[in-house]
Amino acid sequence: MSAPKREQWNSSLGFILAAAGSAIGLGNIWRFPYITGQNGGGTFVLLYVSIVLLIGLPVMYLELSMGRFSKRGPVGAVESIAPGSFWKFMGYLAVITGIGILSFYGVVAGWTVWYFFKAVFHGFPSGKTNELFGEFVASGPHQIALLYIFLALTGGIVISGIKGGIEKVSSILMPILLLLLTGLIIYSMTLKGATSGLKYYLVPKSSDFTKTTFIFALGQAFFSLSLGMGAMMTYGSYLKKKENLVKAGFLVVIFDTVIALMSGLIIFPVLGGAPQKSGAGLVFVVITDLFTKLPGGRILAALFFLLLTVAALTSTISLLEVAASYLMDEHKIPRKKAATIVTFITFIVGIPSALSLGANKSLTSMISIGGQKTGFLGIMDFLFGNVSLALGGLLLILFVVFKWGIKNTEKELFRNSEKLKYLRYILRPLIWFAAPAAIALVLGFILFTGKTLS
Ligand code: TRP
Repeated sequence: MSAPKREQWNSSLGFILAAAGSAIGLGNIWRFPYITGQNGGGTFVLLYVSIVLLIGLPVMYLELSMGRFSKRGPVGAVESIAPGSFWKFMGYLAVITGIGILSFYGVVAGWTVWYFFKAVFHGFPSGKTNELFGEFVASGPHQIALLYIFLALTGGIVISGIKGGIEKVSSILMPILLLLLTGLIIYSMTLKGATSGLKYYLVPKSSDFTKTTFIFALGQAFFSLSLGMGAMMTYGSYLKKKENLVKAGFLVVIFDTVIALMSGLIIFPVLGGAPQKSGAGLVFVVITDLFTKLPGGRILAALFFLLLTVAALTSTISLLEVAASYLMDEHKIPRKKAATIVTFITFIVGIPSALSLGANKSLTSMISIGGQKTGFLGIMDFLFGNVSLALGGLLLILFVVFKWGIKNTEKELFRNSEKLKYLRYILRPLIWFAAPAAIALVLGFILFTGKTLS
């Protein structure tokens, strides 16, 4: 296949902002705190950060290198490196995973839109944000309408090519988000239970370490860094040869992790210890309640949810882009039609998730994952947001080691950063042994212990 002419990022900053835009989203602010709360606080955080550095960063490098080398998304990248091989199914897995994640992510992203309008027009009832959340998510029509709105917004942006505009907007909004989070951290530190909350959040206790901690920390790392389904590969494919991949990838990983950790620094001091009941509503309940107590809280709440909406949008764009660009590149379907098809399929797949927070009884508490009762949305999240991503990451490593070759990978990765080449002595053992072993262990736990799902 001849190399198509490809759009490129104008600067390494442009790439870093876009990749950080994909990485930073609900995963950092919504998912990270509640998963941390469910899996033992400080122990989880320590494990999470270690996994980010020892597995996430190397996998990030593999994706970026492979994307820039092949100038393709996942299906095309595999096809150009190993034409006609069975590895192609890895690309298909990526496309399906993207749709699977987007289908439930869109539901939660819809909440941010509703909360934004709620802040603007009504404000939140102090002390009753829990009830508010419960009633809201149990309303089927609301959930479906918001899912539809958010996916349509995402599809519209992918079609119209104003993605560049969104990235520019988010390059202004991200610093504001950082500022707002910092302010909220400072405020929540002054609250009564702050010390015990921080202790739970930051001090590891070996007794908290279980298999589930490990499973969820790995899944969260992949999810938050947008790894394991070719999103970063696709973004890397737009990256110029002269850019320094080592630096760019590192910065994206650090940004993403800092934002997640900051989110926890707000939530846990407010909770003052282990959360009684940590679920998908945690942030929506806790942060809104915090805003009711702050002077100017409604304006800040509106700003916060607006920022969260934009952060979610830069993530959903990258999820949709992988599946849409597969249809465009490999089936020659025009952009508009491709994006419309994927948006529509995702909406249909997302409906049961939208109805699984109270609207429909049997969809609401179907199964227990890692000891927590959850509904359809939780199942989708676990299967696509944890298992599929980990599997995708493992396959990518195997592909690089056995097919593309570690030397070729390093050539692409260290292009223009000869000085950093010594890092390969750290990278190689991680890619050869540590990362695949850890991921295989996690997948093994899930498959063979039978305890994760019950
Ligand atoms: N990383 C994003 C978040 O934290 C979600 C996301 C966007 C994603 N693209 C992805 C997750 C690709 C996995 C794979 O909100």
